[in-house]
Amino acid sequence: MALPQESAKKNTQENQGSLVQVAPLEALLEKGRFLFKSGGKQVAVFANDDGVFACNNRCPHEGYPLMEGNLSRDGAGRNCILTCNWHNWKFDLAGGETLVGGDKLRRYPVEIIDGQVWVDLSDPAPAEIAAAALAHYQDFGHAVIYTQKTGELIERLGPESTEPLLLSLVRSLVYATREDLIPEFRAYAPALAAWDGQGAEPATAEDFLGLPVAKVLNRALRSSGDPRALYDALMGAACWQFLHFDSDLMQASDKPVSHNVTWLAFTHAITFGNAMRQLCGRYPQLWPQGLLQLACFVGRNAGFVDRSLDVASWQVDDARGFLDRALKGTLDHGEPEYIVSIHHVKLLCAVKSEITAAPDAPWAPVMLAAVNRFLNNPFKRKHSLRTARQALGFVAAEG
Ligand code: FES
Repeated sequence: MALPQESAKKNTQENQGSLVQVAPLEALLEKGRFLFKSGGKQVAVFANDDGVFACNNRCPHEGYPLMEGNLSRDGAGRNCILTCNWHNWKFDLAGGETLVGGDKLRRYPVEIIDGQVWVDLSDPAPAEIAAAALAHYQDFGHAVIYTQKTGELIERLGPESTEPLLLSLVRSLVYATREDLIPEFRAYAPALAAWDGQGAEPATAEDFLGLPVAKVLNRALRSSGDPRALYDALMGAACWQFLHFDSDLMQASDKPVSHNVTWLAFTHAITFGNAMRQLCGRYPQLWPQGLLQLACFVGRNAGFVDRSLDVASWQVDDARGFLDRALKGTLDHGEPEYIVSIHHVKLLCAVKSEITAAPDAPWAPVMLAAVNRFLNNPFKRKHSLRTARQALGFVAAEG
């Protein structure tokens, strides 16, 4: 009997993030079918010499268990047609079509890694919603973060939470502001139109530092041939800027509105990058939008850094211990404003996700040092004098 093919994927922490280990392939082939439960889901796994298939155990018709269905062969002779024994709906486990009946059967991607069968039980945000979230650099990237987080929340709370959560998400997407229309980011749309995926000039984080938005976008286009490498370079630049934020700017009260900047300009670049990487990993067609929007963050933040800062003391030697302590600290944060503590949670979860996915990334130590500095520095929350001065200037300019 021919064995189903091993996946190209390897057994890395990154892959394990969305995969659930089921059983050794040989044991599954012997049994032929296997039911397992995980995260509130009941999953039926079928294994034979034509492949390993995983699907919801509940028939989409009236919910009877598909584990008790019959497998038969398709036109090409593959043993992948599942018939529900109750009313004979038929599903093609390989192709995904419902051959007899109505609604689609939820299938789960299967990976065979080092002789073990893994199933991806994540509930991805639908591609259309991910595309909508990345359409116009909405709300400075918050649309992307909300979309990724909504998917994670649905997975955590179960299918019954899908409708209210997705309706809330879609409402927020509809009302999101289009940052690509403001002058600072007008180069975004032409850059997206010019993206051809052929850029063959690999970039490093340093290549992006000090450049304004239009030049960061242009440099990113020249590296468009390898989205993952470009992601590392842009994330590296965002981490460096975060670590070198000129926090004295938060005290300034004599600058124009365009210089109103706080730590959040930098933490958002990281949380956006994390959500974008996950969405674009799932929907690779969205890499151009995601990467060019990360480029917008890098260009926007370029003017608010201090290269001369001595940052050596912020280095983190024990990444896991540091993040565990920091996350634990958020449970007893003592912050009077929820908006501050929630940004700590948001940032720390994103950083933990990034470090777990790529512990050896060149930007990982920089990211950790930046978080260390951020958590141990004051965060100015009220800018009364600055607001008054800017308001007076605005009124004066209006005549
Ligand atoms: S419950 Fe499966 S066909 Fe009706």
